[in-house]
Parts: sequence; C-alpha cells; structure tokens
Amino acid sequence: MITEDIKIDVSTLANWLSEKRPVTIIDVRPKSEREEWSIPGSIHADVYDRLKVNDPNALDDLKLDAQLPVVTVCAAGKTSLKAAEILKQKGFDVYSLDGGMKAWNFAWNSAATTIHNVKIIQVRRSAKGCLSYMVGSDDEAIVIDASLDPQVYLDLAKANGWSIKYVTDTHVHADYLSRTRELAKASLAKHILIDQAKVEYSFTPIKNGEQIKFGRATLEVIHTPGHTMESTTFRLGDDALFTGDTLFTDGVGRPDLKADLDEATKRSKLLYHSLNQLLNMNPNMWVFPAHLSKAVPFDNNLVAETIKALKGKLELLKLNEDEFVNYTLSRIPPTPPNYLTIATLNKQGSYEGYTPAELEAGANRCAIG
Ligand SMILES: [Fe+2]
Repeated sequence: MITEDIKIDVSTLANWLSEKRPVTIIDVRPKSEREEWSIPGSIHADVYDRLKVNDPNALDDLKLDAQLPVVTVCAAGKTSLKAAEILKQKGFDVYSLDGGMKAWNFAWNSAATTIHNVKIIQVRRSAKGCLSYMVGSDDEAIVIDASLDPQVYLDLAKANGWSIKYVTDTHVHADYLSRTRELAKASLAKHILIDQAKVEYSFTPIKNGEQIKFGRATLEVIHTPGHTMESTTFRLGDDALFTGDTLFTDGVGRPDLKADLDEATKRSKLLYHSLNQLLNMNPNMWVFPAHLSKAVPFDNNLVAETIKALKGKLELLKLNEDEFVNYTLSRIPPTPPNYLTIATLNKQGSYEGYTPAELEAGANRCAIG
C-alpha cells in the first residue's frame, strides 16, 4: 500500500543537499533518460523495466548504506514510488521524489560573492544548469536572466534589502522560458534589453556602451553577437563580466540555433570577434556565464572563472578565426528539445497555455566545448 508519507518534495531534497545532509539518491529511470540529465551525486539502478512489471525483487542487487535515508527518483514520481515501497519493506528510511525529474527541473540553490561592495548572487537552477544573477549595490539591484519563479528573486531581494531596479536578459533564450517579464511585473522593475532584441513586447532599449546604474554600481552594456545576434554582455568595471551564452566556463555559445549553414558561419565569425573583445579585457576579471553544461552541484561554489584561467584551459579560445569557425561548426551538439517553441514564446513574452515543466525538460545544450 503506497502512502503519502513516503514522498519528499523538491525543496526539501534541495535543502538536504544544500545542508550536505548524507542521503542516497537512487535514479530508477532508463539509462537513456538518465544520460540526458540527473541529480548530482545520484546513483543509477537500471531496474526500470522490472519495476514497471512490479517485480518485488527488482532492487535485491542494490547495496545500500542502511544508516542513510534513501530517495528514489524517476521521470514523474510514479515508478520511484514503487521502488520506495520495495525499499520500505526492506526496512529503509525511504522517500520517493514527488513529481520526479519534471519537478526537479525547478530545484535551485545559490552562491554569492562581494566584489568592491557590489554583491553578486548566482541563482542556479541546478538540473538545467541555468545561472541567473542578482547584482546589488546599497539598496538597489539588477536581475540578469531570470529562469525561476519571480518569488525566488523577490525573496532574495528582500533578504538583502534591495529593491529590484532593473531586469534584463542577455539574449532571447532557446532552452528555457525567461521569467524576466514576469519578474518585471512582480517587482515593478524597469525591463531593459539591448535595442537589437527582436521581441514582440515593449521594453526599455539599451545601447552598446550604455551605463546601467544601481546603488553605487554601474554595469556597462557590451553588444557581443554570435550565439544570437542580440547577445549582450554586462561589464562590472574591471571586476566581472556577465557573459550570457557568449562565453561559458566550459566552452562558448553555439552559433547555429535557428540558422542555416551560411547564417551559422556568419554568427560563428561574429562570436569569434565578440570573444576576442572580452578576452582582451583585464585578465583578472571574473566571467559569470548564463549556463553550465551539466547539473550545478549543491556546493555553494560559484560557477565562474577569470579570463586568464579560461584562456589557459579552453583550447578553442586559442584558435585563429578560420580554425574557430571550423571547430565550432563541426562540434554542434544535438539541438535542445522544444527550442523553437521556447524561443518563440520568449519572443512573445508569454507562455500562457504551456506547461514549463514539459517544455523545459532535459539538460541544457547551448555550449560548444
Ligand atoms: Fe542561449
């Protein structure tokens, strides 16, 4: 008999992981689904088919630490309930992740730093590797690339004594639904976007070179086309760059989405020049990207690197223009699921009638490494 008390919700499990509470997480999805995305630190039990037919011995081969609580995970929280029920019979303190990976899609954690009195909070949507930022000075802040419910950012703003003055996106995203417009409404912040952005809703246009001021801080707008034509980087003095999908800590943005070969070649060249512009800045500047290609761990460590470190570690940043174009175009990863629908909805500025968990399922695939 399956009972409700065997379920654990996403925020509780996220808190356990943030608190470094020991737990065994068992992923019972088929291997192909797990390869797409998974919870950091989880282990795979390749027993999906056996659970489906209610095999009571499906988990007999599993060697588990009896002292630790166990959380079972599947795609939507049904098969994991069967696994939890079996382990409960064996005497384990076991829970099934309610809603499965579909719900885990929205699990988040944060990491923060302060540079010259400007606080940077990296808000990480773990499963998809989406990184958004709250940058605050005195009592004002800007939010860049909101990917979570507006309340997440409103709560963080309140905890830090900030009013959100501006919200923006580094580009029209294709792999998740931007929450920036919703956040603008909820916070009454000014919604700014580079003037090249081809969106169908109204916003306050900003130009290359323009200065965005909040508190005592200033962000400079730098147009860095390539991944998309409107891609924008925000520069915090000589300290930090918020690079969107132009430059990651493990690669660069793919130039091919919604593009034929000619267009992708053109964008790849633009990306090369945009990257050069950034890489020629102060080598000690921190690069804060919009994504990580894998799930973000619950470790409170910022996903960030200095320009100097990236130049040393990313071979593709050492290539000349022709080599770079050939390299990027020959290493295009599989196209993200639903990217056309997501990009279209982000252009419209509304996803009414759609279910984010359905559209946004799966890992991020914006990078070429
Ligand atoms: Fe992107």
